[in-house]
Amino acid sequence: MKDAPSLETLFIHAGQGHEWPRQYPTAPAIIPSTSFRTQSPEIMDAILGGDAPGFTYSRHANPTVKAFSEAVRVLEGGAVAQAFSSGMAALDAALFAVGLNPGDRLLLSRDLYGATMTLSEQVWGTMGIHVETVDVTDLERTEEALLRLRPRGLVVETLSNPLMKVPDLSRLIALAHKVECQVIVDNTFATPVLVRPLTLGADLVVHSATKYLGGHGDAIGGVVVAHQGYESRLHQYVKIRGSVLSPFDAWLLLRGIKTLGVRFERQCQNAAHAADLLLASGRFHRVYYPGLPDHPSHWTANTLFSGRGYGAVVTVDVPGGRARIFHLLSRLTLVGSATTVGDVYTLCLYPSIASHRNQSAEALQAMGISDETLRIAVGLESVDDIVDDILTALD
Ligand SMILES: Cc1ncc(COP(=O)(O)O)c(C=O)c1O
Repeated sequence: MKDAPSLETLFIHAGQGHEWPRQYPTAPAIIPSTSFRTQSPEIMDAILGGDAPGFTYSRHANPTVKAFSEAVRVLEGGAVAQAFSSGMAALDAALFAVGLNPGDRLLLSRDLYGATMTLSEQVWGTMGIHVETVDVTDLERTEEALLRLRPRGLVVETLSNPLMKVPDLSRLIALAHKVECQVIVDNTFATPVLVRPLTLGADLVVHSATKYLGGHGDAIGGVVVAHQGYESRLHQYVKIRGSVLSPFDAWLLLRGIKTLGVRFERQCQNAAHAADLLLASGRFHRVYYPGLPDHPSHWTANTLFSGRGYGAVVTVDVPGGRARIFHLLSRLTLVGSATTVGDVYTLCLYPSIASHRNQSAEALQAMGISDETLRIAVGLESVDDIVDDILTALD
């Protein structure tokens, strides 16, 4: 008898059945009710006081939303999970959950999604939090920054957006914990299919569920999964700030998760194949994909992801920069030009006008993002068709 079901089984069943002790529907239920009637005021008192489980008002908790967060909790191997209206709301909640106070320091990976950087620097930074960035793939520099700043939190991505750099998570977490710094890992690009950061000691894991968890480009949401001890701050955040996930979106995201395993496995294979073809075409100054031996994170990715894949994003440097990329984007027919990743559709994004638009020229240069950088989020179409569309549009 196995101790626990495998991930493939959990994708299908996690999060379902908890509110239905005797029988439950095969497909999860959408419960859009804003409030819940209780049989007695004593029951309502107990639920609102946190002395009994249950539902009173959907800004506090909702069964469909809970089913979604419970599914991600199980997949990420955490003790608690809280869903939010977007990935950004989830990141903001994770920063709140680590207990930042004025005067505290916050250390960020230099290679974060642009809006995460803006949130940290321009929202938390104006509230008396000192924010610094460091290249987390350079452990020596990161250790120096940790010892110098003794930050309350460190924010990293398992696969950075858009250059797909991979930090050595286990060693990074150990270094952070030496100075009592809590580690927030944005696992959006890797998903629990490749790695489960909480099992490596991370304190909180964040997802933009909008991406691979949902997978179909039809719902925006976010989720934080954490170890014991973070529940009350995460719950307080959603109750008071009100950044709740809608039950309809929770249902779509939960439905997406059921095929996450097969979708993501195939998308990783497609991306690896596309990276090979784009490289072989000789048409790009550089192709960035951690599955390629010349990617700076190739060996770290091999260890961290143990051969399960290297993610589904391939980034290229297009000779000719902005003018040529605008030409390419306007001529694509199959591949879309859109600002997201993780969908079943292949989508291209030009980071310098989109995800990293608000970053300074110096910050972009330090990250290695130039006006030639083009991100390709590989979907489920035939790889030959995807690459053919891109190369034809480039001509
Ligand atoms: C790595 C990463 N984290 C967080 C977010 C924010 O997610 P959302 O758009 O759901 O707020 C994004 C969005 O692109 C992202 O790429």
